[in-house]
Amino acid sequence: MKDIAYVNGNFLDINDAKVSVKDRGLLFGDGVYEVAGVIEGVLIDNWAHLRRLERSLDYISLELPIDLKTLSEVQKELIFRNNMKEGTLYLHVTRGESQQREFEFPKDVAPSIVMFVQHKKILHISQDKLRAKVMTLPDLRWKRRDIKSIALLAQVLAKQTAHENGCDEVWMYEDNFITEGGSSNAFIIQKNKLISRKTNETILSGITRQAVLKLVEQESLLFEERPFSIEEAYQASEAFYTSASVFVMPVISIDEKIIGDGNPGPLTIKLRNLYENFAKSFINQENNE
Ligand code: PDD
Repeated sequence: MKDIAYVNGNFLDINDAKVSVKDRGLLFGDGVYEVAGVIEGVLIDNWAHLRRLERSLDYISLELPIDLKTLSEVQKELIFRNNMKEGTLYLHVTRGESQQREFEFPKDVAPSIVMFVQHKKILHISQDKLRAKVMTLPDLRWKRRDIKSIALLAQVLAKQTAHENGCDEVWMYEDNFITEGGSSNAFIIQKNKLISRKTNETILSGITRQAVLKLVEQESLLFEERPFSIEEAYQASEAFYTSASVFVMPVISIDEKIIGDGNPGPLTIKLRNLYENFAKSFINQENNE
């Protein structure tokens, strides 16, 4: 079965799904995006993703041509048409197709909405894959990282360097402090205390991060919200990163320095289990609707 994508009101075979060469997303990276996880055909924490999309759109002064409820119906339809069980749904909104390549916003141009799915394991990841190696690199991005911009060149280059060095993720740093992962939020554990940078303009407020922190609160686990240095990361007893596409990913080494005993730590495993249960609760909710 071929994958189906959604482009501006149409569900199309992925090979026929096209946008204009003058799409401002292509020309300027003028757009914002979301990636939501899917398990058993159900979107995980999708309303939090859609609300963040609304916030990103608002920041770039782009008005969604359809309301969020309708957008969520389109997402569900896309999952259904792809017979999708597990993976991610990518969604972006760009400022659309302009006649001229001019930087200023074009007038009377409709935004362009694109969605497609990626089938992959996010809940049922095998144990041997839950052992990520991380490389640190300077954070070369713009200063409004709270906006989920589709302009991702800095992350593309950093993640490629990490990949070429046998690593699964990059942790970017600024002034010697970790900001976040290339496509995830970074956490360390010192003894029993969880540490994660406060969300402001320097990092994306991850939807998975928000959910994990609620679970941390419910479980009365120790938590400190502050930046941590590269050196602290090396010395951590445990480390992990979070995103919609990996949930809670244990880190076993950072810049080839072994974290803890080189295996996923107990608190990290506990948090992954708690998050998995939280994610599964969306399946039950959907089935009860
Ligand atoms: N990235 N930080 C950055 C820079 C990200 O790109 C992402 C997600 C996150 C985690 O956010 P969330 O928990 O809402 O997924 C943090 C997505 C998965 C991506 O670009 O593929």
